[in-house]
Amino acid sequence: MLYLPELQHNSIGMIRHILLLFIVAPACTALSARGAPHAIILTAARTTEKHPLGGTHPITIWCAPDNPQVTISKATLTRQKDKKEFKMTVVGTKKNATYEIEKPTTHDAGEYLCALDTPYGKLDAKIPIYVRPLALSDNEHFTPIGDNEFILEGDRKSTSIGGDVNLTCPITGHPVPSIKWTKDSKPLELSNNVMLDGTTIRIKVSNESQAGLYSCEAVNEYSVGGKTSRLQLVVNKRVEIKSQMAWILPLAIIIIMFVLLILIIIACEARNRKKPDPKHRYGVE
Ligand SMILES: *[C@@H]1O[C@H](CO)[C@@H](O)[C@H](O)[C@H]1NC(C)=O
Ligand SMILES: *[C@@H]1O[C@H](CO)[C@@H](O)[C@H](O)[C@H]1NC(C)=O
Ligand SMILES: *[C@@H]1O[C@H](CO)[C@@H](O)[C@H](O)[C@H]1NC(C)=O
Repeated sequence: MLYLPELQHNSIGMIRHILLLFIVAPACTALSARGAPHAIILTAARTTEKHPLGGTHPITIWCAPDNPQVTISKATLTRQKDKKEFKMTVVGTKKNATYEIEKPTTHDAGEYLCALDTPYGKLDAKIPIYVRPLALSDNEHFTPIGDNEFILEGDRKSTSIGGDVNLTCPITGHPVPSIKWTKDSKPLELSNNVMLDGTTIRIKVSNESQAGLYSCEAVNEYSVGGKTSRLQLVVNKRVEIKSQMAWILPLAIIIIMFVLLILIIIACEARNRKKPDPKHRYGVE
């Protein structure tokens, strides 16, 4: 279009226009590459940074030029989170590149960038590997409730009136899960005593009614192979409030036992005194 006025004026312009069409057009239509998103299939929901949970199926990442005329001379895959590079295998009639993760773990989740070297320059595509929300159990202990691996119970927290409790929700996943807290199955109400700090809630305990079951619900959503999945993980944390009168009962027991002991001693003394001394009795005879 840029050369149109020139084209109307002379035939040299027309030739230039046609040449440009031939040189630029294939490059223009082939300026991108594509791949498909993948997901790591898991049967449990607890992982650690040190020992990432393994998936059940291998993953083959592929990447191909959008234009089927374009051949690939070299293909690399870069994991965005740590810039680690992987060499892809050029397959088929040099029209597709693949990289197989035979035993994927949750550590492999994230964004990848595939870069294809072609006669028309470097083409790239972003390829995600998704993972459902998972609990990070490096510093905390979680137990599945019943046989549902995706409903976990964390350690109980116990405090007294005037104390404070921090409830953490150490969740990972790709895309980053959104988190919602509930208390006793109702949306958690925030106040000066109940504050949200990132994914942690800080509770200043001022009232017995703050005891109960706090749940962190993490959800993420992704589409793989045309199918959209919405995946949830629930982490429950129970908060108990120690009664301020809790020390009364053990103290009462100690006092009662002490009183009983004294009574027994007094009773024995009294009996001993009433009984005539045998030595004395026989001594009289
Ligand atoms: C590239 O290869 C993968 C794995 O064999 C295949 O699933 C995918 O459909 C191929 N892509 C194209 C564009 O041919
Ligand atoms: C909770 O977190 C706050 C802020 O980091 C900290 O000052 C407080 O000591 C924590 N409380 C408990 C019980 O760990
Ligand atoms: C505790 O909180 C509840 C609800 O906010 C309120 O009805 C109740 O009176 C409070 N109890 C005390 C001892 O402050």
